[in-house]
Amino acid sequence: MANNTLLVSLNGDKLEGVAAAGQAEGLAAYSKKWDSMHTARSDREWHITWGMLAPLAGPYLRAVPLITGSTDCTDVGCGVSDLGFELCRAHGLSTLWLLDASSVCIDQLQARYAAVADLSITARVADCRATPCEPASVRVVLDKGTLDAMESDADMHAMLAEMARILTPGGLIISVSFPAVKRLAFLDAALPPLALTHHTYVIASGDMSAAVVFLSLIFCAPAAGIMPPYTPDERTRRMLGRAAACGSLYEDEPDFQPPDPFSFVEETPDADV
Ligand SMILES: C[S@@+](CC[C@H](N)C(=O)[O-])C[C@H]1O[C@@H](n2cnc3c(N)ncnc32)[C@H](O)[C@@H]1O
Repeated sequence: MANNTLLVSLNGDKLEGVAAAGQAEGLAAYSKKWDSMHTARSDREWHITWGMLAPLAGPYLRAVPLITGSTDCTDVGCGVSDLGFELCRAHGLSTLWLLDASSVCIDQLQARYAAVADLSITARVADCRATPCEPASVRVVLDKGTLDAMESDADMHAMLAEMARILTPGGLIISVSFPAVKRLAFLDAALPPLALTHHTYVIASGDMSAAVVFLSLIFCAPAAGIMPPYTPDERTRRMLGRAAACGSLYEDEPDFQPPDPFSFVEETPDADV
């Protein structure tokens, strides 16, 4: 999908062609890698729980217009997460699609939710870069750690384009990621050509032993007026300001040694997702 598109590099330079962005990976390769990952650590909720997300995401979710015939929520790389289910429960939503490259986790989710009668849940193996969803059919798209899992810039662009394709006008993409400064540059460069914009917040519990993540609330730029105003808290202002000034969340504190949970701020493409 992204192979023939004009790609924009992380430093803002325009690059032609997929060679500059890395080779797209086939679905089978993702399935193989993640089947073994889910077999080894099947009970894991990546990054954060719904409870940590709800205060910031709630006002945005309430702003998303109802559209007859649309799917309320689709998680495009759900793993074995409960996030979509809990979000639907908390906001009274009635249709949930759970998609993942790994049949290991889809099998688990089908068993987990088999007895749920008051919420329509469809769990199936699918590629986040080419989902079975109709264009403009999903009100809320969830990405918790799936963009992180893409193996190349080409695949990140393809996944973003697919989320944009399936999003209803006025819909919301909730994207949770490692706090890699490169992600901010990626969103700033890749969203405008898709007519999308973002409000990014930094979430942490405030205690230095806790993990830090980015929460990006992404929506159609023309629908910005229906979304809440961007109101970053002090931590978000400080950390994003530092990232913009020096390209690092920590660089202006040379004596600061992050504890182990922070080690993922090193922006290697193969970070342990
Ligand atoms: C870091 S895990 C996050 C899982 C889950 N969203 C969570 O927060 O617990 C990344 C997920 O993306 C899925 N994934 C990787 N490549 C994919 C692809 N091409 N299409 C769909 N899902 C994919 C993996 O199977 C895995 O479940």
